[in-house]
Amino acid sequence: MRRACWLLVIGCAALSAQTGDAEKLAPYYPTPETIVDKMLRLGGLKAGEKMYDLGSGDGRIVIVAAQKFHAEAVGVELDKDLCKQSTAKILKLGLDKNAHIINGDLLKQNYSSADLVTVYLLPDAVNNKVQPLLDKQLKKGTRIVAKDFDFRNWTPEKVENIADDGEGRSHTLYLYRK
Ligand SMILES: C[S@@+](CC[C@H](N)C(=O)[O-])C[C@H]1O[C@@H](n2cnc3c(N)ncnc32)[C@H](O)[C@@H]1O
Repeated sequence: MRRACWLLVIGCAALSAQTGDAEKLAPYYPTPETIVDKMLRLGGLKAGEKMYDLGSGDGRIVIVAAQKFHAEAVGVELDKDLCKQSTAKILKLGLDKNAHIINGDLLKQNYSSADLVTVYLLPDAVNNKVQPLLDKQLKKGTRIVAKDFDFRNWTPEKVENIADDGEGRSHTLYLYRK
């Protein structure tokens, strides 16, 4: 375990050197656990599929995708501390064979192997930065689930409104298919 912790610290520190000029596309504002499950169900995530969470925060979507849906789950997170925290949780839960976090800029990754992509970022980032990238990279049939902010130039296959998550917050989920 001690060795795993050192690898985690070294990994996050080394990779964070690559994040220097990256743009922060949203603040950290986590999705409630009940909504995480709904996002992955809406995205039809199946065992063995590859999923990416763009801006993975504390890793909650990646963790549920690997633990409950048995997917191959990858998060991309700019914030070094959130990367460390989520990677530590993945190790603690013994999910490191099929879940990991890249500490880097989500606009600099390759998503061409994705079956599902989840996105919870601000509208400007969603429409002007992420959409052109996903248009270029995603293979045909890839599903995308966006939370609260839609992709204006794409037509959703399904929209799910959650009026109250039990804590007084409402949410809207959008499902797209490339
Ligand atoms: C609204 S939070 C969503 C967190 C998580 N996906 C969830 O739904 O619980 C957005 C996250 O994106 C991260 N982020 C913002 N800009 C980024 C970038 N350029 N590359 C990678 N992560 C970024 C933030 O640090 C934050 O953790």
